[in-house]
Amino acid sequence: MPDLNRFGVSIDENLLVSFDKLIGEQGYGNRSEALRDLIWDALIKSKIEDFSDSSDVIGSLTIVYDHHASGLLEEMTQIQHRFHSHILSVMHLHVGHDDCLEIIALRGKVKETVDLANSLLSLKGIKNGKLFLTLPSSSIAS
Ligand code: NI
Repeated sequence: MPDLNRFGVSIDENLLVSFDKLIGEQGYGNRSEALRDLIWDALIKSKIEDFSDSSDVIGSLTIVYDHHASGLLEEMTQIQHRFHSHILSVMHLHVGHDDCLEIIALRGKVKETVDLANSLLSLKGIKNGKLFLTLPSSSIAS
């Protein structure tokens, strides 16, 4: 386990009160845990936004769509076959008469993974969706 460092932070009192209220509502036991998560998020965001980063990102794409939409299933299948090496697993749920929910587990270089997600999210008939990407911890704090 790496050494722990302590450091002081100078911060406006009103901002700190708001921060303490927020992290209390989120269930954090102390500021250190909340601050550590914010630092992790910032480092992950920075690395993922740097498309030249050589690490593989991991994550998931969740989409909701109408399976009656004309041609949608064929287009989705074509895109998923084009990016087959980036798709680890697909979970499909029939959530109602019209709606399907798909959760696609992804791994690959960030640019291709984002391209895959955007290709699916922009299809006509996709009602809603969100891409979540992160990095293995070994790629973040090195
Ligand atoms: Ni379905």
